[in-house]
Amino acid sequence: MRRSTSAVFALALLAGCHSQPEPTDTQTAAEPESFSPLQQITSSKIDLPADEETFGESAQGQLLNRTCLACHSTSMIRTQPPLTRKQWTATVTKMREAYAAPFEASETEAIVDALMATAPANK
Ligand code: HEC
Repeated sequence: MRRSTSAVFALALLAGCHSQPEPTDTQTAAEPESFSPLQQITSSKIDLPADEETFGESAQGQLLNRTCLACHSTSMIRTQPPLTRKQWTATVTKMREAYAAPFEASETEAIVDALMATAPANK
């Protein structure tokens, strides 16, 4: 009797979390002994790509730090496929117009210069 009482209690707790309908009599509760989800969690090691925190302190580096790093990592930008000046210009313009990246339209050309220098570029 004690076992089924704690099973009902566990179900009541779960139901409270997700506001699921009350369990019906036809549903069978898991045995309390086997109800241990924490034992099934294991750690994995994930190798993230090497990443620099910023584009550096040069004038071009600082420009990209200010205009891109609020939303992207350096590696995200450096691992783009080789883009032409025209393609980078379209991307930078999209960042400003569609996503409100923090820079003026007049800075677009300087940003594209900096990107062409730091990311793989098709000149
Ligand atoms: C305010 C946030 C924000 C800033 C700042 C920003 N981006 Fe983005 N960027 C985004 C979002 C959101 C996407 C995803 C767009 C999509 O999936 O269509 C994106 C996507 C991209 C992509 C993937 C290709 C694409 O066209 O979707 C590139 C490359 C990129 N950004 C480069 C840049 C560069 C370079 C800068 C700095 C000049 C920058 N972003 C600044 C928000 C931002």
